[in-house]
Amino acid sequence: MTRVFSGIKPTGHLTLGNYLGAMRRWASVDQHRADALFCVVDLHALTVDHDPARVRRLSRQAATLLLAAGVDPRLCTVFVQSQVDEHARLSYLLECVATDGEMRRMVQYKEKAARERDRGGSVRLSLLTYPVLMAADILAYRTDEVPVGDDQTQHVELTRDLAVRFNQRYGHTFTVPRATHPEVAARVMNLQEPSSKMGKSDDAAVAGPGIVYLLDEPDVVRKKIMRAVTDSGQDVLYDREERPGIANLLEILAACTGADPEALSGTYSSYGALKKETADAVVEVLRPVRDRHQELCADPSYVEEVLRDGAAKARAMARPTVDAAYRAIGLLPPV
Ligand code: TYM
Repeated sequence: MTRVFSGIKPTGHLTLGNYLGAMRRWASVDQHRADALFCVVDLHALTVDHDPARVRRLSRQAATLLLAAGVDPRLCTVFVQSQVDEHARLSYLLECVATDGEMRRMVQYKEKAARERDRGGSVRLSLLTYPVLMAADILAYRTDEVPVGDDQTQHVELTRDLAVRFNQRYGHTFTVPRATHPEVAARVMNLQEPSSKMGKSDDAAVAGPGIVYLLDEPDVVRKKIMRAVTDSGQDVLYDREERPGIANLLEILAACTGADPEALSGTYSSYGALKKETADAVVEVLRPVRDRHQELCADPSYVEEVLRDGAAKARAMARPTVDAAYRAIGLLPPV
């Protein structure tokens, strides 16, 4: 059976981008057709300036939202990364096959490091090695497919390179995975800045109005979409280069309604009409997620139990592969 692994980082409140680009597909497709694992990757949240209590809170919230989005622990494995030691164990071995040049070429590293420096902060070493930990997350489970948004493509490519290199040097140990992306909404853009991704850890200036959070109230969602930055034209055309604001709205609407953004573009006479329909569609898509989240919050012991069982299952799956990697690379067997 195909093995699927994907993760979500608790660095901020989850967004419409996370939902349309990744989570929704995990629930509607991946968990039904594959042996799937979905992970709240909390160790990754420590790579930038963080508040410990907030990370803990966001980790629980992300796990709850995964379940609210329809990820079903009876069909797949849901767990928190730091509760399965194999990720950190394997990450170190992969650091021994990765090079610093490879790490410095990662686009997300360059962007995030520049942002930290601009703020006058220093760059944590873990930000540089982040993609290696991500590779460990994936390779520990002999993953075939990694369903992610577009922004993770380079990291999955690196994971493939590390798997191939390790296998060539030390004997076949890892499956070489591949990324899969949704047909539409693989990169949902910020509503106020449609040239950049809608990211949960964005700066406050664009974060508030430009990002739809999964737990935003319906009237807040509507307001954000109605105020989305558009282009100076009037025709509703699907053109990502020339009309990024309108293209983004068309993609969001298409993703929410199962339509094709290009086909939709001919059906609106004004930007206002498109915005209104997009706002309605997003509110309807998020409604069941918000409702279920509220129900789950009333019973936190259920989420705890799911995560405890999930960690036990994940550990049992990862351990043989990580032990095999230890042996292959030249370490003594566990005592
Ligand atoms: P993260 O937490 O930033 O995002 C989680 C998932 O949501 C997708 N995504 C988007 N898709 C479309 N439009 C957007 N605006 C948007 N924003 C986010 C991401 O592509 C991702 O699929 N490094 C990863 C977490 C990770 C991981 C892994 C993923 C760690 N280990 C192993 C897969 C496998 C990240 O930061 O995702």
